[in-house]
Amino acid sequence: MQKQCAIIGFGGMGEWHSEHLAANLSDRLHLKGIWDIRPERRQYANQKGLFAYGSLEELLADPAVELVTIATPNDFHKPLAEACLRAGKHVVCEKPVTLNAGQLQSVMATAKECGRVFTVHQNRRWDKDFCTVKEVLAQNTLGEPYFIESRVLGSRRVLNGWRGVKAEGGGMLLDWGVHLLDQLLWLVDSPVVEVGAHLFALMPGVEVDDNMKVFLRFANGLSALVEVATNCFVLQPRWHVSCREGSFKIDDWDCHGRMIRLAEENELAWDEVITYTAAGPTRTMAPRPRETVEELPLPQVAPDLADYYRNVCDAIDGKAELIVKPEEALRVMQVVDAAFAANERGQSVSCRI
Ligand SMILES: NC(=O)c1ccc[n+]([C@@H]2O[C@H](COP(=O)([O-])OP(=O)(O)OC[C@H]3O[C@@H](n4cnc5c(N)ncnc54)[C@H](O)[C@@H]3O)[C@@H](O)[C@H]2O)c1
Repeated sequence: MQKQCAIIGFGGMGEWHSEHLAANLSDRLHLKGIWDIRPERRQYANQKGLFAYGSLEELLADPAVELVTIATPNDFHKPLAEACLRAGKHVVCEKPVTLNAGQLQSVMATAKECGRVFTVHQNRRWDKDFCTVKEVLAQNTLGEPYFIESRVLGSRRVLNGWRGVKAEGGGMLLDWGVHLLDQLLWLVDSPVVEVGAHLFALMPGVEVDDNMKVFLRFANGLSALVEVATNCFVLQPRWHVSCREGSFKIDDWDCHGRMIRLAEENELAWDEVITYTAAGPTRTMAPRPRETVEELPLPQVAPDLADYYRNVCDAIDGKAELIVKPEEALRVMQVVDAAFAANERGQSVSCRI
């Protein structure tokens, strides 16, 4: 049966949610209306044929609304999520769920007290590139992974509006960083034991990180680098993964990439090959003969993002466990807290997250 839902915050992402629901989830969810503090966005919603509530209180008091999606700037997530839960609504909250782990613990306690479903819109678990990485590792084609590099790189050198304001939860660690960390923590089944972070504020007058690198060490020995850049003019692959028997890269969202596996070791005495660079010889870095490796196609995956909201509906009906669990979001926020602390101290921090 169709559930009635509402959206708070009708900016770029709020509008995206409304279109996604209408295009892909009309059998499960009906958007009853939206609320935005800016009158022009409420008018814009009306022009698009949507109902706009006259106030937050009016939305919260509407008994027909079962589920609310929060898509406001980040600093409003906690107070709005708690207000919705206390009004008896189930909540989907945009990422970053809150500004830190402590705020999220408070929201989780409220959700428990009110007996409502609370989850985070970690939609990038459905990204094709990420699902491809997950599939390669699940198939164990290249042996155990020991280093994962996950990067989102751009060169637009701008953080628009609240994204550049610290008090409003701006900065790339809280913006793209939480997507990449969520993917990584979902991929690696092991506690994080060390977090290092290099946060940069490169643009003039910017008070938040506009470029960042976070290094993670997991208890199982795997390490990872997560990088977000707005000042990168020569791109690196979206993913580069080093495994014991080979490596693979995925260049872009469309999943162009390469996967190379070590062939059966043979008796070729190729280690005698020497490369002479201008400044001297190297045997270690000499290229490998082609017959000692094999190139494999990357697996094909077809994730369906609509499964996110379908799962939320099933969780509300008690028919499924949430895919994006609040406890998982809490781990992400604990790593975010550790990254801010590591950057502040100028050295990595030990932890067990
Ligand atoms: N999951 C994703 O892929 C993804 C992508 C983009 C943005 N987001 C997240 O979505 C949220 C919104 O981002 P955006 O790009 O749409 O921002 P935006 O600035 O385009 O829109 C935010 C809207 O919220 C409204 N607003 C502000 N305070 C409000 C309040 N207290 N009550 C009601 N409305 C309020 C603003 O008027 C604005 O229309 C952020 O948390 C962001 O991190 C997620």
